[in-house]
Amino acid sequence: MADAAIEVRDLRKTYRTPFRRRRVEALRGVTFRVEVGHIFGFVGPNGAGKTTTIRTLMGLIRPSGGSARILGHDIPSRQARARLGFLPESPYFYDYLTIGELLDLAGRLFNLPGPLRKKRAEELIERVGLGRARTQSLKKFSKGMLQRAGLAQALMNDPELVVLDEPMSGLDPIGRKEVRDLILELRERGKTVFFSTHILSDVEAVADQVAIVARGQLQAQGTPAELVGRVLRGVDVLVRIADSVATDELTDGATRVRRVGSELSLTLAADVDVDAWLARAHGAGAKVVSVSPRHDTLEDLFLRETAAADASVAATEGRT
Ligand SMILES: Nc1ncnc2c1ncn2[C@@H]1O[C@H](COP(=O)(O)OP(=O)(O)OP(=O)(O)O)[C@@H](O)[C@H]1O
Ligand SMILES: [Mg+2]
Repeated sequence: MADAAIEVRDLRKTYRTPFRRRRVEALRGVTFRVEVGHIFGFVGPNGAGKTTTIRTLMGLIRPSGGSARILGHDIPSRQARARLGFLPESPYFYDYLTIGELLDLAGRLFNLPGPLRKKRAEELIERVGLGRARTQSLKKFSKGMLQRAGLAQALMNDPELVVLDEPMSGLDPIGRKEVRDLILELRERGKTVFFSTHILSDVEAVADQVAIVARGQLQAQGTPAELVGRVLRGVDVLVRIADSVATDELTDGATRVRRVGSELSLTLAADVDVDAWLARAHGAGAKVVSVSPRHDTLEDLFLRETAAADASVAATEGRT
């Protein structure tokens, strides 16, 4: 099999707090694979282990167990680091620099020649919408502007793989949309993007693959469509029926019932015999307009998986 962009196997991390009085099992055996050219969304609630996973992959902290490869190299790897871009969770910059100086510094760290540094910096400043702030020092930047500066910095070495820890954090809806567009553009140029977030609509909109992490373990993994298509919640039906017809027989036990003139829409529970219901509707003179499955939203799944992880940890802790 071709090398994955990221391959993580049974990754574990236990933090020991000062004086080793308390252990925090931040990662309890995490396994996943990020294919080259994909956008991978790593979703989970606060404290799930997203940043720990990312910092481990970046070689900033050592795992307590398991292994990971990045761009075909075991972590930590200098060769891999040169070919990837990284946006940390709360980027900190020397705040007396301008954006141009920040990017020039990033370019120097990657040994880019002067003219290339200048060209890349110019392109990226425009790309992330900081053209008008180029003379200001970073200390005058808003949170959103700093986030954009961090994104530009992560792209200075024209990386094959971009790892972004909460790239949309601190951004307003327009800023979030811009980051999503940037991520899509990176994929179009053949790059691989791995990003963490707790905002589900952001992953739903762009990710090819999603992993839901909670309590240091993956709870679910798949394409957004697979994840939301896994559980049938019911069937949405829309029928047209003469105004005079009473619909009690049809709406019994249904939810989201709405009748506007001759249009009746409702949701049948997943265990209802849809054929029998349609036959009854037909008998009442109804014309079927549409019948469609109602699946979980990613949010339903997220809430359920997160609650399940909490319950299983509570059960384990209760036993010890
Ligand atoms: N340096 C540390 N020392 C001790 N515990 C830590 C340390 N860093 C993280 N933790 C703990 O490890 C767990 C996972 O934290 P992590 O920062 O990886 O979560 P996260 O998914 O990135 O959360 P968030 O959405 O809030 O950024 C949490 O319980 C956290 O308190
Ligand atoms: Mg985090």
